[in-house]
Amino acid sequence: MYIAHISDTHFIKDNPATLKYARRIVDTINGFEILPKFVVVTGDLVNEANWEDYDLCFCELNRLKAPYYVIGGNHDKASVLAKALKTYYPDHPKSEISGYLQYSVDIDDLRVIAVDFYGDRQDGYMTDTERLDWLEDKLEATPAGKNVVIIKHRFPLNTHLHFFAKRENPWYERFAEIVSLYKNKVKLIACGHLHNSLMGNIGGVPIVSTLSPFGLLNMDFQKAEPLVREDRDFLAFHVHLIDDGVVTSYLVPIDMVVKDGN
Ligand SMILES: [Fe+2]
Repeated sequence: MYIAHISDTHFIKDNPATLKYARRIVDTINGFEILPKFVVVTGDLVNEANWEDYDLCFCELNRLKAPYYVIGGNHDKASVLAKALKTYYPDHPKSEISGYLQYSVDIDDLRVIAVDFYGDRQDGYMTDTERLDWLEDKLEATPAGKNVVIIKHRFPLNTHLHFFAKRENPWYERFAEIVSLYKNKVKLIACGHLHNSLMGNIGGVPIVSTLSPFGLLNMDFQKAEPLVREDRDFLAFHVHLIDDGVVTSYLVPIDMVVKDGN
């Protein structure tokens, strides 16, 4: 089963580049010879949680020829995002926890579990563990043989990037404990937030953050400032293959040569 993974589209109605580059990703996915079973969008769908930006975002995402599942980021607001989903994508799973966009959905022998760190707050809910209790219950109840993909916005480990490392907190220690406990069920943690591709693992469970079409993050070992390059001179996203419980992750680059009409 192929899963396309995109993130941090940061749609802005008044910034045509956000549509232009997200559209290239959508067109690339739609042009695959083998369409993904579904697409995950791991947060920061829009830049300012404005209704107009969600309108632009979902009109574009609805062009995908595969179903898609989203999670909010620090630039989204769960309440606005849930309302926009209800309007533009009513078939999307509904939240199982009030005030957040947190849900699970089964696709064949796979279960996608969306864990919402932010709700309506940009800085998240660092001490509230209700959603992690829910995650543990959900994993416990997942039948043996069903593979789980967790989608979330933030990378759940220390990134060793100066801008992000300062935000580590106990919430993630608890998250890691739960994933370790159920590492035989969880096959992949797909996330975003970092605007670049980082990989790690919790107890052998791979974590992959995918790139952003909005702008690329500079690593600390590169040039630390500016933090994000907006030149978009490299555009890519991920496709994950889950076959017999084993994950292979592909980085899919997009040709940046501008063609007429693009
Ligand atoms: Fe972002």
